Amino acid sequence: MLLTFEGIDGSGKSTQARLLVERLQAEGHRTLLVREPGGTDLSERLRTVLLDPDLRIDPMPELLLFSAARAQLVIERVQPALEEGRIVICDRFYDSTMAYQGAGRQVADAAWLRAFNQRVVQELVPDRTYLIDVDPVTAAARRSETGAPPADRMETSSDDFYTRVTDAYRALAAEESERFVRLDGARAVEAIHTRIWDDVQHLGLPTPPDRNLP
Ligand code: ADP
Ligand code: TYD
Repeated sequence: MLLTFEGIDGSGKSTQARLLVERLQAEGHRTLLVREPGGTDLSERLRTVLLDPDLRIDPMPELLLFSAARAQLVIERVQPALEEGRIVICDRFYDSTMAYQGAGRQVADAAWLRAFNQRVVQELVPDRTYLIDVDPVTAAARRSETGAPPADRMETSSDDFYTRVTDAYRALAAEESERFVRLDGARAVEAIHTRIWDDVQHLGLPTPPDRNLP
């Protein structure tokens, strides 16, 4: 089973992905949590390149680098974990590419990008995608809280860019309303987690291995 988390930077998706994994593990489920871009040696190196604020990367090479990182992650970690029966949780997946490169950078039209993304991930489709929806102003405030790391290359994008990304996420969730669950990211962390946990119960999770024992 593949569950993905989406939202703009600072929406709170990593917090929710972590809480969900902890809860699943506490129930005895075998999980794999990965973040994008990242999760393999190659993908982590590409992450460093992609987020380097001192590098100029044009939209098409940016699309190809994010996609290369994702292709390697799927081959090396996601597919094998799914074959082992693990619940795989991805902090971002190809909807990020639809929103950021498609709508944000306007690198390609949506139909082309959708087909391309499917090839990159060997036609995998998440069983559920949680969109943590916050307005760009709230997200920017969370990103600049004391102790937050300095802005990376993506975070130096304009306000217009983040508005396009936010709108694109909402449109994606409306288009694929069976796969997406859109959550109000302005609510408290625990309240959002409770809604996600309720939803996960209805997905037909595999029986945890230790519960199979006589
Ligand atoms: P993302 O992975 O989407 O960038 P994070 O989960 O790292 O977001 O959260 C960004 C910041 O916002 C962190 O400081 C986190 O503690 C805080 N945060 C996360 N969720 C909420 C929430 N629902 N309400 C208030 N603050 C939150
Ligand atoms: P990260 O620090 O992981 O962001 P966050 O804390 O929001 O999860 O940085 C990943 C950045 O890369 C983020 O700005 C979104 C962007 N991104 C894309 O533009 N396209 C993609 O396909 C992916 C996976 C990420």
